[in-house]
Amino acid sequence: MTLRSWIVLLLWQLAALIYIFPGGAHAETCMLASYYSSHMVLQQQPHSAVIWGYADIKATIEVKVRDKMYKTSVEAEVPSRVGVWKVKLDPMLAGGPYDIVVFCEAFTVVNSVILEDVMFGDVWVCSGQSNMAFAVDQSFNGSKELNESVNYPNIRLLAVKQVLSETPYDDLHGLYEPWSKPSPETLGSKAQIFNYFSALCWFFGRDLYDSMQYPIGLISTNWGGTPIEDWSSPDVLKKCSATHRPLPESDDRLTGTIRGPHVASGLWNSMIHPLLNFTIKGAIWYQGEANTVDPDPYKCLFNAMITDWREKWYEGTLNSTDIKFPFGFMQLCTSNVPSSEIIGPYTTLRWHQTYDYGYVPNDVMQNVFMAVGIDLPDLTSPYGPIHPRDKEDMGVRLSLAGRAVAYRQNIPYAGPFPTSFTVNTTTLALDIEYDKGQANIKLVGQTGFEICCGGSPPCKYYDTWVPAKITGQPTPSSISLSYYCYHRRATAVRYLWRDMPCTFKNCPVYRVENELPGPPFMLNL
Ligand SMILES: *[C@@H]1O[C@H](CO)[C@@H](O)[C@H](O)[C@H]1NC(C)=O
Ligand SMILES: *[C@@H]1O[C@H](CO)[C@@H](O)[C@H](O)[C@H]1NC(C)=O
Ligand SMILES: *[C@@H]1O[C@H](CO)[C@@H](O)[C@H](O)[C@H]1NC(C)=O
Ligand SMILES: *[C@@H]1O[C@H](CO)[C@@H](O)[C@H](O)[C@H]1NC(C)=O
Ligand SMILES: *[C@@H]1O[C@H](CO)[C@@H](O)[C@H](O)[C@H]1NC(C)=O
Repeated sequence: MTLRSWIVLLLWQLAALIYIFPGGAHAETCMLASYYSSHMVLQQQPHSAVIWGYADIKATIEVKVRDKMYKTSVEAEVPSRVGVWKVKLDPMLAGGPYDIVVFCEAFTVVNSVILEDVMFGDVWVCSGQSNMAFAVDQSFNGSKELNESVNYPNIRLLAVKQVLSETPYDDLHGLYEPWSKPSPETLGSKAQIFNYFSALCWFFGRDLYDSMQYPIGLISTNWGGTPIEDWSSPDVLKKCSATHRPLPESDDRLTGTIRGPHVASGLWNSMIHPLLNFTIKGAIWYQGEANTVDPDPYKCLFNAMITDWREKWYEGTLNSTDIKFPFGFMQLCTSNVPSSEIIGPYTTLRWHQTYDYGYVPNDVMQNVFMAVGIDLPDLTSPYGPIHPRDKEDMGVRLSLAGRAVAYRQNIPYAGPFPTSFTVNTTTLALDIEYDKGQANIKLVGQTGFEICCGGSPPCKYYDTWVPAKITGQPTPSSISLSYYCYHRRATAVRYLWRDMPCTFKNCPVYRVENELPGPPFMLNL
């Protein structure tokens, strides 16, 4: 802070102290919500940033941004001494730094607050459980990445404190870190692991910055060991009939040993709801491990939560946040049960993360993007195999998908996905064509395909799955499998249907460009 802002702050505090209401009590006459501060990034055009704060109910407020004054007042409908004000800025081009000055005038007393070094750019929210909370200095190359972070002064970080609430908050109840420029100190977790700053959030944002070259704001709001119900509003739980369902208790074998609260809407209330009035570009998400104890409801919950966040952010920011804002997620990597044989709940949960399509965006999950992490296991991770340290590759993959889906860049961003099958019942061969013949495939690992030999599709768990062998070299966009079905018909094919199917970067099918792994699937023939 400069001398000028200290003096202004001092005067403002003084004014707040001596200013006495007719009723007798003194009021905090002019304040911003807790997450507006110097060094912040506000959302750029075509969206409008929203600034809000508190003032006493008789105040008029003026917000000065560059050469424009935005005037508003507090609505005095509620018989309370302190009300809320909000202004919606004109769409601003990316850039900065700018000073923003807020003047509040009540009963001839004028207070002001100055925010310095404010940038306009794209703001991304990073939420989820421990793999999102996983900090930069826990990840591979962490020390080097921390040192190099000073080269990104136009990326700004905000870390939300972990707080639980049974009722919705309007403002955050604490920050680990106010808006800051990245440095080994601000990006480092200060001896607290699984805290801040989120490695995936950082790598995603940094890679976006390298591509966009304009300011990026990153808001880390996450908590290890938490199920999706914690992050969902009561509307989501109702829609998915999850209101009366007990929340999944964690099973450490599956979900890791990081414990977080299991309270329906508990983190929605305290760590998401307060941010709904801050205009954002989009959100990224790495969560699901805590729901593998009972994966079935995830299909409804995840899609409903995305839609609900979008609608409420749109409403909370006076329609400034896109009602279909881009939402990206990391598909689950591995469980804490290191066996290549286990067909556990991770398979179902990964599938549900895509609304059972296998890929995103799809007809249901529009403007949603994902990165596949199934081939990045880390059996020797000191934080357990459930917490892989290679967050750099995850960041690379997620930012590629984000650039393609959220920014409409024409780049390869997804691993190959099957678009048609040809079964030859004479030779017992299955040809799989990827991406309508447009994929450019390379084969790495050999095992991972299975054929269902059974009655009529869909293949149920009691039908027989037999391994299928990859035969010969792939053409650029198709592969051939051979199988043996003992006089039964091949009815379905599945791929990577294990909790931990591959060793590091050693799944079978990759896209040549950017080395992107094909996602797991289970499809009828
Ligand atoms: C990062 O900087 C610290 C302090 O200057 C130094 O000790 C450390 O070796 C550096 N790490 C890397 C990977 O450069
Ligand atoms: C923020 O937006 C949400 C959603 O529209 C709303 O419930 C809440 O009251 C708003 N908070 C403030 C301080 O305006
Ligand atoms: C936001 O859009 C909705 C329709 O989606 C409209 O009813 C409402 O008046 C708009 N609100 C503002 C503040 O523009
Ligand atoms: C760590 O950094 C080195 C050198 O930049 C790079 O080759 C390597 O791929 C990085 N590790 C990961 C996991 O990205
Ligand atoms: C099956 O494979 C055999 C041998 O390659 C070939 O002659 C036949 O035409 C194939 N049948 C179909 C339906 O593709």
